[in-house]
Amino acid sequence: MPPAHAGHHRVVEVPGAPPADLPVQHVEVARAESERGEIVLRERREGEGPAVLELRANGVFVMDTREVATEQALASAALAAVEEPRSVVVGGLGLGFTLREVLADQRVERVTVVEIEEALVGWMRDGTVPHGPAVLADARVGVVVADVAAAFAEARGASYDLVLLDVDNGPGYLVHEENAVLYREPFLSSVRAALRPGGVVAVWSSAPSPALHDALHDTVGACEARALPVLLQDREETYWLYLARA
Ligand SMILES: C[S@@+](CC[C@H](N)C(=O)[O-])C[C@H]1O[C@@H](n2cnc3c(N)ncnc32)[C@H](O)[C@@H]1O
Repeated sequence: MPPAHAGHHRVVEVPGAPPADLPVQHVEVARAESERGEIVLRERREGEGPAVLELRANGVFVMDTREVATEQALASAALAAVEEPRSVVVGGLGLGFTLREVLADQRVERVTVVEIEEALVGWMRDGTVPHGPAVLADARVGVVVADVAAAFAEARGASYDLVLLDVDNGPGYLVHEENAVLYREPFLSSVRAALRPGGVVAVWSSAPSPALHDALHDTVGACEARALPVLLQDREETYWLYLARA
């Protein structure tokens, strides 16, 4: 049986009407169409609680601003794995939490962000996502609007210290079926070719994936699977990081 969060990312939406004393209100903040379909940013309020921003793609929940510990852990675990993380790639800007964690590390000199949705980059830049402008204003950041598969196909000769990939839910529960290629060959070899010796690639996944572990191990180098416990609303869940060293 698939885990309860199948089809969702990070936070489970509880089906059915919210309790009467905790009305959940949604307000659409921005909407855009691309060749992959529709992306929507919306604000969620639960009772008197703070407003939370949600990102959805084709009606599927991608992430929100409430539970971002594992987006941050993707960065912090990888940053801890190398001595000099000078040059970093972040695949998938999302709402910028992985990127913000990378930028908090003063050893980092350059971050290349690869994001496929141009509208999302715009919403981060123009303040539609309130914390976005501050994150993208950092002079160390360069944003490339592209499919990360295409970006690495052209990245031979690069010498990155870290590549952080959080572009989908992991191989089991994809938001975009086309992203299946990002968890196997030949994409992983193109990432390996863009890493310096000793560099690390880290991949976020919503579920354990022995196939991803083995593919990273075979193409990049020794791979460690790390469980990340998270509390989603009142339920314990586990997400996964795969870290492989070239
Ligand atoms: C789950 S979000 C990333 C969350 C991010 N780690 C954060 O901290 O906010 C995934 C992002 O990857 C982007 N994306 C999806 N497929 C992609 C691809 N093939 N290449 C580049 N970006 C992609 C999505 O548009 C989305 O912004």
